[in-house]
Amino acid sequence: MSEDNACWQPACAIADLEQGQFSEFRLPRKTQEPDTLPQTGFVFLDNGKPRAYLNQCPHLGIELNWMPGRFLDADNLFIQCSTHGALFKPGTGECIAGPCQGDALTALEVRVTNGMILVRAPE
Ligand code: FES
Repeated sequence: MSEDNACWQPACAIADLEQGQFSEFRLPRKTQEPDTLPQTGFVFLDNGKPRAYLNQCPHLGIELNWMPGRFLDADNLFIQCSTHGALFKPGTGECIAGPCQGDALTALEVRVTNGMILVRAPE
C-alpha cells in the first residue's frame, strides 16, 4: 500500500447511503493520549455527492449529535449542533447561526473507490 493510500480510510459503502441519511465513522488519531476519545466523522450525500466532516462543533469542539445518525435540524435543511443549536450549511460546513457563526465544520477529503466511500483527515 502506498503512502497516499495509507491516509485514506473507509467510511461506508456508497450503496448503503441514501439521500438524507448520515453514517458515522472513527478516525485514527496521529497521537493517541490515554484519555482522549477517538476522533469521529460523518458522511452523507449532498445532492448525490458524498461529503464528510469531522464530528466536532467549532464552538466547544464536542460532537454535534446526541442521537446516532441524527445531524439535521427539524426542517432537514441544516446540520445542527445538539448542544447549543448552531446551524451549518451541509454543502460547505459554514455556520450560519449560533455561537460559532462564521466558523465552519472541518471538511474531510472524500473519494469513492470500488463502491466504498473513503475519507482522509486534514493534515
Ligand atoms: S457546542 Fe455546538 S453550538 Fe455550542
